[in-house]
Amino acid sequence: MVKTWANYGDLHLDLTGSKVRSKLESALREAVQSGRLHPGTKLPPSRVLATDLGIARNTVADAYGQLVAEGWLTAHAGSGTWVSQRPGRPPEVGATPAAVTHPRFDLRAGVPDLAAFPRGAWQAAARKVLGSAGHHLLGYPDPAGLPELRMALADYLARVRGVTASPERVVVCGGFTHAIALLSQVLRARGARALAVEAYGHDHHRRVVAGNGLRPLPLPVDDGGARPDGLAGARQARVGAAVLTPAHQFPLGVTLLPERRRAFAEWAGKAGGFVIEDDYDGEFRYDRQPVGAMQALAPEHVVYAGTASKSLVPGLQLGWLVVPVRLRDELIAAKEASGSLVSALDQLTLAEFIGSGAYDRQIRHARLAYRRRRDRLVAMLRQQAPEVAVTGISAGLQALVRLPAGWREAEVVASAARRGVAVSGLAGYRAAGPAVAPASHPVGNDQKHSEQEPAAAGHGRGGQPVQALVVGYARPPEHAFTAALARLCAVLAITGHHQPDTPR
Ligand SMILES: Cc1ncc(COP(=O)(O)O)c(C=O)c1O
Repeated sequence: MVKTWANYGDLHLDLTGSKVRSKLESALREAVQSGRLHPGTKLPPSRVLATDLGIARNTVADAYGQLVAEGWLTAHAGSGTWVSQRPGRPPEVGATPAAVTHPRFDLRAGVPDLAAFPRGAWQAAARKVLGSAGHHLLGYPDPAGLPELRMALADYLARVRGVTASPERVVVCGGFTHAIALLSQVLRARGARALAVEAYGHDHHRRVVAGNGLRPLPLPVDDGGARPDGLAGARQARVGAAVLTPAHQFPLGVTLLPERRRAFAEWAGKAGGFVIEDDYDGEFRYDRQPVGAMQALAPEHVVYAGTASKSLVPGLQLGWLVVPVRLRDELIAAKEASGSLVSALDQLTLAEFIGSGAYDRQIRHARLAYRRRRDRLVAMLRQQAPEVAVTGISAGLQALVRLPAGWREAEVVASAARRGVAVSGLAGYRAAGPAVAPASHPVGNDQKHSEQEPAAAGHGRGGQPVQALVVGYARPPEHAFTAALARLCAVLAITGHHQPDTPR
């Protein structure tokens, strides 16, 4: 028995005639593709929809299963089926790199698995806050951040990252990008004209620094992290701070050597400057205990920066700083002047989320899930693309896949795009322009590394830029991850077959 049209919220399904399952699939696919069913919409349970349409429950379950496999829908165990946040598209035959705008498989770094956001636990925290927060908490929020959140963060960061933190030193902001904009303004007002940034990093961050009046000057990076000797010209260039990713250099993945941590902290002390420690993925270390924050070495010279963009989702736009006391008031004034305060309700929810232990649970869960993904990435590449070397994998959510001599990363990136895989080449992260000071050794020749990882700096022994892919293995939803890896491996295998000199 088949109904002509079934209305269920936004679903309008014509199920007359035969091939009911395939019609249901097509109708749902079309509804998602056209935007009639918005990302994040919850679908009716298969039992309910089946009853409503007068068809077998298995038919609905099979149709949902197929669309989950294709990436249009996402299934959350125990909580139902939803329209995916970034519905996939079938791979386009012969597509150009422009297909990357809506890739079938997205392996670009920078975004965690959005489908893994702990909606239930976040909702519980938000509900509790809404039910209990006094009216006074709903006014203009304290520009430093609500005391509830500053207290929860100070406690958490001291316990988990070894940060020297007290609620008075914590400044809540809208993520690292917001933080670096505010810090650039404050340092410029103090007389700085430049910021030393690692020679590999997000171009977006460099643009934000420049947009706030400071020249981003590249610091060389090698297997031991950023090189402090690269700061030799810092005084003349009026460098106000060095921005570092000590726990896991982005995107090369190396850890800053302990002696270099000390050297940078000493430089800041002597020069009256600062280190800005971007601890974007510090909680995600897999093979040993987390490397503690370097801020504890010199709390009066290091600004610690953390973000919810990796541990939860970027859509929250929540981040935090632990600042030297002498910077605090200037920073808060800059934040107030910028007019961009952070929602009080979101702050209270995060405070509740941390205080209840839900944040710790989420980190533990995500760390395990991402470590498994990393292991799968390494195993599949070893098996199917043995020519490449994977480095930077002891932590974080991205790996550096170094290509063999003779391969061009731009060609691999374009080939991947034609096959529906978005992945970035290392070149896009390289900072252009003059360095703070020329490196005294060519980048990549330092053999002292703190962990047993292959050399992972951005240049080869001959000084040539390393050809590599930066693979963000956290990004695809779980159901699409293995298929994304298989597609990447196929791209590498095809590239290998076309390289006359690659040993196979
Ligand atoms: C190196 C690095 N720093 C910081 C961030 C976080 O930036 P935001 O908090 O602005 O999302 C990211 C996220 O992609 C990152 O890769």
